[in-house]
Amino acid sequence: MRKPIIAGNWKMHNTIAEGMKLIRGLIPLVKGVKDVDIVVCPTATALAVVTSTLRGKNIQVGAQNVHWEKDGAYTGEIAAPMLKEIGVKYAIVGHSERRQYFGETDEGVNKRARAAFAAGITPIICVGESLATREKGTYLRFVARQVRLATNGFQPEEAAKLVLAYEPVWAIGTGKTATFEQAEEVCAHIRQTITRLFGAAAGDKIRIQYGGSVKTATIRGLMEKPDVDGVLVGGAALKAVDFSQIVKFQ
Ligand code: PGA
Repeated sequence: MRKPIIAGNWKMHNTIAEGMKLIRGLIPLVKGVKDVDIVVCPTATALAVVTSTLRGKNIQVGAQNVHWEKDGAYTGEIAAPMLKEIGVKYAIVGHSERRQYFGETDEGVNKRARAAFAAGITPIICVGESLATREKGTYLRFVARQVRLATNGFQPEEAAKLVLAYEPVWAIGTGKTATFEQAEEVCAHIRQTITRLFGAAAGDKIRIQYGGSVKTATIRGLMEKPDVDGVLVGGAALKAVDFSQIVKFQ
């Protein structure tokens, strides 16, 4: 069985002080939760202090991006070994906001994912279609292509350890959640795509999240779906109580 993974993406929210307040509120609320991998993804400035505060606790830390080179002249970027040094375990890669506002390409997403993995950091690779693509009816093909390009060059046993997040762009920050059936349809298609590319074992093991306006009211219905192994949460991850309820599927 796949262990559920629930991740909170703070995006460009929370100073260190605000982030620490959120973490201090969250720790007791999720104490004792063992059957779910819990991840928080703060902004870069808060990564080190949040990671050291959470050491030994049941909450892991993820970065919101990672660069493909180990070091070099890449102003504004952070290398995977630097994240590894402070104890970061995950890195979101290819979030639609990165693709949309910062020109990230499928090729770059793949390079970032591979560098993270090589450094021992699990990439959470985001894919998802725009509203126009959904309305055109070509979204399954579109998402499968994103998955294929993002996972290019991984070995089957490596692919099995990745996390993929299906985040339809039209549902992010819009309050418009995909229906449980829409989430399941694409998550199942992503799993089939991984099976086709890397074999049945990888398809069976890889964890696939849904993301886009996830809230306490929708978490149960999403987690009941067989191919949804967790969620990537934006807005609702900024409140300790809401996020803890999502972590507990309440
Ligand atoms: P949202 O963001 O939950 O605020 O829609 C999700 C995400 O972008 O990961």
